[in-house]
Amino acid sequence: MAFDRIFLDELSARNDIVDVVSQYVPLKKSGANYFGLCPFHNEKSPSFSVSADKQIFHCFGCGAGGGVITFVMKAEGLEFPDAVRFLAARCGIEVPEQGEDERKAARHRERLYALCKDAGRFFYDTLWLPENRSVQQYFLNRGLHRRIMNKFGLGYAPDSFHALMDAMAAKGYTREELLDAGLVSRNEKGRVYDRFRNRVMFPIIDVRGNVIAFGGRVMDDSKPKYLNSPETPIFHKSRNLFALNFSKTTRSDYFILAEGYMDVIALHQAGFDSAVASLGTSLTEDQARMIARHTGQIVISYDADGAGQAAAQRAIDILKKCDLQVKVLKIPGAKDPDEFLREKGADAFRNLIERSENHNAYRIEQIAAKYDLEDDEARVQFLKDAARMLATIDSSVEREVYAGRAAKMAGVTPEAMAVEVKRELTIRLKKRKAAERKEIRSPVNMAQPKDKTLAYTDIKSAKAEEGVLRLIFSDQKLLAGLQKELPAEWFSAPILRKIYEHAHALDEHGQIVGIAQFEGELTESEMAHLTNVLSASTPAAEQRQALTDYINTIRLQRVKDGTLAEAGEDPLLTFGRIKKQNAGGQMI
Ligand code: GTP
Ligand code: MN
Repeated sequence: MAFDRIFLDELSARNDIVDVVSQYVPLKKSGANYFGLCPFHNEKSPSFSVSADKQIFHCFGCGAGGGVITFVMKAEGLEFPDAVRFLAARCGIEVPEQGEDERKAARHRERLYALCKDAGRFFYDTLWLPENRSVQQYFLNRGLHRRIMNKFGLGYAPDSFHALMDAMAAKGYTREELLDAGLVSRNEKGRVYDRFRNRVMFPIIDVRGNVIAFGGRVMDDSKPKYLNSPETPIFHKSRNLFALNFSKTTRSDYFILAEGYMDVIALHQAGFDSAVASLGTSLTEDQARMIARHTGQIVISYDADGAGQAAAQRAIDILKKCDLQVKVLKIPGAKDPDEFLREKGADAFRNLIERSENHNAYRIEQIAAKYDLEDDEARVQFLKDAARMLATIDSSVEREVYAGRAAKMAGVTPEAMAVEVKRELTIRLKKRKAAERKEIRSPVNMAQPKDKTLAYTDIKSAKAEEGVLRLIFSDQKLLAGLQKELPAEWFSAPILRKIYEHAHALDEHGQIVGIAQFEGELTESEMAHLTNVLSASTPAAEQRQALTDYINTIRLQRVKDGTLAEAGEDPLLTFGRIKKQNAGGQMI
């Protein structure tokens, strides 16, 4: 959704970044800037800075950066439009919705939020009616305390086809709204009825604390065991995590990823307040990114059965893509964390976490599972397969430990295994050396953006392009007429070109060219890159000359790569002219 730029400027102006950040991180003033510990990665000495002047934050450690909206997106785990609404609510201004359609859709969503909240309240009240003591007993038998039940808002949907419908109609909700919220269903004859009947109810709450859906469980062995809300305008299964609204404020260094509602609730009750679950589907990339916004480490704690283990394997790959450190927990003698906690207690679970296997050990076991280790031929294959995997482990101590384990599994001596690993290691080392030599020769790999998808292809040009951006951000007047001297097409780096173009667009509309004006235009990692680029210093004097030098560098690169040959100028002439100019001017 595109918001009006003037509104966004007002929003940024009313939410001073120092005030907002201070609510999350203690800041100390030093010179013109404020410093503190970065909330987005673990660190002991402060490398996180906030500039009151520029209204931006920037972490020298992890490279995060942006304006106040980006900060809220990261800190609260919100998408851009929600971060905007969050800040609007914080300073008490109204969010202008776009057209009539959008206003209507937003009003409708608000109704559905209210309806789900009221439905949750209805299920909760119903649970605690004296006549439903047996339902209360169901939860108590499963080891839950009243306090945690209230915290999670657990409830009961009575054994009726219309109890919820009637209660909500009395509150003024329409049948359409109940259908849209997924609380009632319609059969072929067009008759509508309560979707959840005679089930214990688990409200699904989004990261901001809105009830958006429900999971309902039978209390016996009938099927389906769980019934969940369908996708609705306010509930997208793949973009929510159960209990993230609680876990986002944990002080724990790691998150725990479980499979079921009951696992998560039992974990929170036992003091593991960083447990979340994907909602009955396998983990999605969106969910992994949401987790990565809040932590750097995750312990997968799925069910012990085959399905759970296969799901863990898939989750590892998705989580690793988000740069998370992944560990996998094995739960001995119980089918899931909930059962384990009830039988062995919180300390035993903490012990499991401390001893939880690094995903390497886990992977060895997965490799072993592919072979029949009674068979000699298969054992040799396993050894080779495992050695290849072991050679990817960086720490030699760790490597030795897991090699020993693999040897034992295959019934060979540790020495035989070590020989095999060494062979694989030598191959890898050779490959890496070759790659490194190549890397050293190529300066392209220096000073690249952190996000590899933004990589520079022409580093010399890109550095000059960065210089141009620094100059125009420090003095907007330099933009006047600049497009003639330096057309956007000359930019080699798409991300820098995009920024350059948007800067011109802002300037033409009489708006300020500042970081805040790029929020919503750029993705989170593009925003971080822009902040990084702008955090380098600009020449204090002779800015006009510096700009000319940068432009000449860029033009020279375009001549060299042939882009400018078609512009009607003889490339050789241009080349010579710029060379001469450059020799006279300031070299970059
Ligand atoms: P219990 O401990 O038996 O209450 O369940 P659990 O939390 O251990 O659930 P289980 O491991 O059986 O399943 C994990 C998750 O998958 C559940 O929390 C649900 O979200 C989902 N799930 C399980 N069974 C069903 C089902 O029959 N239908 C649907 N749609 N989802 C299910
Ligand atoms: Mn269970």
